[in-house]
Amino acid sequence: MDDCNGCDPCTGLCKIAPEMAGAFKALGDANRLRIIHLLATDTTGTLGVSDLADILGISQPAASQHLKTLKSEGFVTSRREGFRVYFSFNRDRVLKFREHFDLMCGAVMDRCDRELVRKTAQKTSLNACVVFYSYTGVTRGVAERIRNACGCDLVEVKTVTGYSTFTAYTTGVLHSRRGVCDPILPDRIDVSRYDLLVIGTPVWAWKPAPAINAAVRALSGCEGKRAVVFCTNCGQPGETLPLLRSALASRGVEVAAAVSLTQEDLAARTAENDLIERIVEAYPLPVEDGQNTKTGLT
Ligand SMILES: Cc1cc2nc3c(=O)[nH]c(=O)nc-3n(C[C@H](O)[C@H](O)[C@H](O)COP(=O)(O)O)c2cc1C
Repeated sequence: MDDCNGCDPCTGLCKIAPEMAGAFKALGDANRLRIIHLLATDTTGTLGVSDLADILGISQPAASQHLKTLKSEGFVTSRREGFRVYFSFNRDRVLKFREHFDLMCGAVMDRCDRELVRKTAQKTSLNACVVFYSYTGVTRGVAERIRNACGCDLVEVKTVTGYSTFTAYTTGVLHSRRGVCDPILPDRIDVSRYDLLVIGTPVWAWKPAPAINAAVRALSGCEGKRAVVFCTNCGQPGETLPLLRSALASRGVEVAAAVSLTQEDLAARTAENDLIERIVEAYPLPVEDGQNTKTGLT
């Protein structure tokens, strides 16, 4: 049987679904979860069936059955020493489970974001464009998740002369501190057909990356448009968002929302969801019969 659901974009969930179902079944019992906890916190490495049965207050056959189930899903391993069998917790299996669980939650969150867009903006996709620069891929990841949620277009700008780690922290930092516009490709970004712009940058020396300074300058057809800006950073965004806001204002673009995302925010996805909500809120809704359907204003 072909397990592929043919989703676009592919989440990879179909491939892991049977294994996840087995893992959930193995974990779906309070005593088995307690066994995992006991083995994970055991420092002696000498817990056997009878010890576990005693601690849990269950019969030895019941404990043995639980261990067999956990072993078959790889959460527990055993070793024999003479007549005794000792059990251990398999850390690698739990790490793999967590990785797959995160993938599953990520795919579900993407669907929830999409549902939010459908409900709030009354559209399945927004006529918006995410213009971004990314040096190590973090900002690109956020831009791609916005695209997955909102169905909008992406424009990734690249510096004509790439940065090495050394030049990023020397020339790049100098350029960002001075507000320099690095030469970029594409060198002209026509946004005239979009209803909303989203601009994303990593923070470089508490300021927007030089490539994004150039991207703002390269916008054409942006006057009178609305934008949402975001930056990714390690907890010190500095002046990045206010600077981006004023650079866009000088191009006639009104910034409706500005969001800073740290690595922790990205792991928890809360700030990212907030960003998507801000994008949907900022999106100008169609005016029906002279009335804005979101605000009720005429
Ligand atoms: C040259 C350089 C300067 C940086 N300066 C800052 C900074 O001032 N504050 C901060 O919080 N993070 C700083 N960072 C970290 C990045 O902003 C952060 O890792 C970002 O998420 C990377 O995004 P990217 O993968 O899209 O390039 C700097 C990174 C680089 C490469």
